[in-house]
Amino acid sequence: MKENSRVYARIVGTGSYVPEKLLTNEDLTKMVNTTDAWITERTGIKTRHITGPDEATSDLAAEAGRQALEAAGVAPEEVDCIVVGTCTPDMFFPSTGCLVQHKLGARNACAFDVSAACSGMIYSTSVGDAFIRSGQYKTVLVIGADAVTKMVDFTDRNTCVLFGDGAGAFVLRPGDTPGIEYTELGADGSQSRILEIPAGGSRMPTSHETVDNGSHYVKAMGREVFKLAVRVMEKSVVEALEKCGLHSDQIDLLVPHQANLRIIDAGRQRLGLPWEKVWVNIDRYGNTTAGTIPIALDEAIRSGHAGPGKRIVLVSFGAGFTWAIMVLTL
Ligand code: ACO
Repeated sequence: MKENSRVYARIVGTGSYVPEKLLTNEDLTKMVNTTDAWITERTGIKTRHITGPDEATSDLAAEAGRQALEAAGVAPEEVDCIVVGTCTPDMFFPSTGCLVQHKLGARNACAFDVSAACSGMIYSTSVGDAFIRSGQYKTVLVIGADAVTKMVDFTDRNTCVLFGDGAGAFVLRPGDTPGIEYTELGADGSQSRILEIPAGGSRMPTSHETVDNGSHYVKAMGREVFKLAVRVMEKSVVEALEKCGLHSDQIDLLVPHQANLRIIDAGRQRLGLPWEKVWVNIDRYGNTTAGTIPIALDEAIRSGHAGPGKRIVLVSFGAGFTWAIMVLTL
């Protein structure tokens, strides 16, 4: 790298992993009062992958991380730091990051988790970006991973049709050309109740009562989430482009959070982007929470739809309420 030049974090490898087990809309019609037509029309989801009884978030995260390291040509021992964005850690402690560090044999890396629900991957990537730009670390492995179906009530049709499990990962290294150009992270804790898992934490520790009344499961006010998500997605992308001095024509690919195809479409129309410039995989995976953004970018890269020099916009929103946007060049 040139002396005194500005340092940028660059994504030098990506990976992703979803569990083998497939859950189709047809399968869900046998579990709750729903139809394939309702799920497809209202959400855009057809299938999702779900973890089995012996799989947890760290298993998905480690596999995605392994693939990203392989793509980057980086050995596990070279990793300085592992950041895992997750809201469904294997357990409260140790962190999923530490479990992944051991699984990968990344023995020289520090490791921790970031909790920002569906915004977890962009939040985590921004932490990695800051470490790289400050010069503190040279190689950061960032992973977004969730096994949220473990926290879903499969008798509640309002939530169980929406989610899938999965993980994706980026390897970040310094470079003297962008790279990650712009990041904005947002939060509005006053909206914390619209998406939550009420029990199992220090507010309402697990008890017979919390299990009996199902308060250890995901609760969502879907309509409220929908409205906030559309507003945040449109506003944050428009503002980010303005701040970067970019027109939407200059975006090669928008990679939005995959919570509902109608939310994606509303954002796409507001930006005047054709579908070819918007990555959509919600039909196959549902909402994989923090896994969504890196799985989508990894797919876009591996299928040849995104590559060196392409300008990518990542945008996400989720429980908290949180949102995050990142503009980068591959
Ligand atoms: N099958 C059939 N009917 C259903 C189903 C289902 N699976 N789910 C809900 N319905 C019914 C409702 O009960 C309601 O019936 P009613 O009118 O008799 O009360 C009717 O369908 C319409 O319900 P709405 O809530 O108005 O449906 P909407 O069009 O808003 O779609 C949805 C619901 C898909 C949840 C939508 O609001 C949405 O996508 N919200 C955002 C996504 C979300 O919540 N994601 C979670 C983010 S995860 C995270 O950050 C951790």
